[in-house]
Amino acid sequence: MTNIDWKNLPFGYFKTDYNVRCYYRNGKWGEVEVSSSEYITMHMAATCLHYGQEAFGGVKAFRGSDGKIRVFRWMENAKRMQRSAEGIMMAVPPVELFGEMIFKAIKLNEKYVPPYGYGASLYLRPLLIGTGAEVGVKPADEYLFMVFVGPVGPYFKEGFKPVNFQIISDYDRAAPFGTGHIKVGGNYAASLKALIRGKNEGFPSVIFRNSADRRYIDEAGPANFFGIKGNSYITPDSPSILPSITNLSLRQLAKDIGLNVELRSVAVDELDSFEEAGACGTAAVITPIGKIVDRDTGKVVEYSKDGKAGPISTKLYNKLKGIQEGTEEDIHNWNTVVE
Ligand code: PLP
Ligand code: COI
Repeated sequence: MTNIDWKNLPFGYFKTDYNVRCYYRNGKWGEVEVSSSEYITMHMAATCLHYGQEAFGGVKAFRGSDGKIRVFRWMENAKRMQRSAEGIMMAVPPVELFGEMIFKAIKLNEKYVPPYGYGASLYLRPLLIGTGAEVGVKPADEYLFMVFVGPVGPYFKEGFKPVNFQIISDYDRAAPFGTGHIKVGGNYAASLKALIRGKNEGFPSVIFRNSADRRYIDEAGPANFFGIKGNSYITPDSPSILPSITNLSLRQLAKDIGLNVELRSVAVDELDSFEEAGACGTAAVITPIGKIVDRDTGKVVEYSKDGKAGPISTKLYNKLKGIQEGTEEDIHNWNTVVE
């Protein structure tokens, strides 16, 4: 048995025993290979190193109260990986290949799936990179698709407790007709200066505005934004936001509990009309927002004064967590049990 402190796991890299790899060469995907190396050898002119041909995903597997391992909405992740690949002209991994590789990676590393009850999960990181050598700006003719996994705890160390966010207007993570809607590494490179400055100023995350006119909210660095107003779940619609699978799920759960769902532009000026706000994503789950500070004006909007999440965010969080851990009925068939 492994000797892991499941309760205090951070969200970070954790060495496990195996990863799974598949190369695309001569116009086709090869055999799925199992590796115990943490390293990749590649040509120094690989396009991922020069021109950003890189896309990734994030999927979680949970050990349920019944001991079974459930993978949450992996097919949606596979389809988003395909859109990301297509968006930066990479070879597109078939959904079946994505499935075969994540399940193989989970089974090979089964002892690293955290037990039920620690608020931890196994995070799967599928990764697609251009490995073919090019010096001119063009897509590679060879690719590597791989999946590594590791046990993780909450993305924000507070867990399901309100976190303070900063809203900014002097950096953009993505342009309106750029790559914000797909999960490619360049978007994260573009977000780093704002994120790290935010952290240094005391904010675990920042919220980016839309880059066209900066009047609307796009999303948080690694997560979508939502607000609760009266009986409505409101979340921004924008061409430069990553369509979050967690947000897609929360919109369904919101409907299930009788809320109205609004997917539309959300003006920065509307922030102070919400009663609750949160960030959502695979890593972030639901991270309630305590307050949002506008870095330009100093204006503060406060959603939690008592250090607790609001009632609707709590209800949605419990529903989502319950489905993922098998304590709530999976009425939408979001889970795949690992056999
Ligand atoms: N937005 C960005 C920029 C992200 O990186 C992520 C993480 O995957 C999300 C939103 C949340 O998406 P999902 O719920 O599919 O993990
Ligand atoms: C995820 O939620 O899976 C993410 O990819 C967020 C972040 C770690 C980039």
